[in-house]
Amino acid sequence: MSPVFRPLTPDDLDAMLALEQAAHAHPWSRNVLADSFGNRYFTGSLWLQQQQAATEKSEQLLGYFIADGILDESTLMNICVAPEQQGQGFGRQLITHYLHLCERQHITQCWLEVRASNMAAQALYQACGYQENGRRRHYYQSAAGAEDAVLMALLLNK
Ligand SMILES: CC(C)(COP(=O)(O)OP(=O)(O)OC[C@H]1O[C@@H](n2cnc3c(N)ncnc32)[C@H](O)[C@@H]1OP(=O)(O)O)[C@@H](O)C(=O)NCCC(=O)NCCS
Repeated sequence: MSPVFRPLTPDDLDAMLALEQAAHAHPWSRNVLADSFGNRYFTGSLWLQQQQAATEKSEQLLGYFIADGILDESTLMNICVAPEQQGQGFGRQLITHYLHLCERQHITQCWLEVRASNMAAQALYQACGYQENGRRRHYYQSAAGAEDAVLMALLLNK
C-alpha cells in the first residue's frame, strides 16, 4: 500500500515524539512539538497504512514536517524521516508536499536553517531547489561546543 499524506494532529504527538527522538541528534521536546499546532504553523506527515485483518487498520508514521507561514514567507522548522525508512525518497516527497502547500497559500519565500554538519539535510534541500544564502556563526550547541547554522532559501513563482 502506498504512503498517504495528511496534516499532523495533537493525537499524533506520541508517534511524532518517538520519530523525533529516533531521527534527530538534537530532538525537540514533547512540549515544543505540541506547540506546533498553533495558528501560524502548518504541518504534513507521511503514513504507511496497513490492513491487518478485515476490520483492523494500523498506521506507521514515516516522516513529517513542521513549518510556519506568515504572509508570503514560510520557514521550514523541522523535517524528519524514520531512520529505517531514510534513503527511499520520503524526505523529498515531504518537501515537495510542503512546497505545494506553500504555493496554495501564496507563499513565495521559503527559508530554513540547518546545522553546518548536517550534510544529508543540506543535500536534500539543494536537490529540492534551495540555495545557501548565509550563515549564523556558532548558532547551535554541539558536542564540540557550537556549530554554524547554514541559511537556505527557495523562491517560488508568484
Ligand atoms: C534529511 C532527511 C529528512 C532526508 O530524508 P530521506 O527520506 O532519507 O531523503 P530522500 O531519500 O528523500 O533523499 C532525497 C535527496 O536528498 C539527498 N540525501 C538524502 N540523504 C542523504 C545522505 N545521507 N547523504 C547525501 N545526500 C542525501 C540526496 O540528494 C537525495 O537524492 P537522491 O536519492 O536522488 O540521491 C533524513 O535524513 C532525516 O530525517 N534526517 C534526520 C533529521 C534531520 O536531520 N532533519 C533535517 C534538519 S531539521
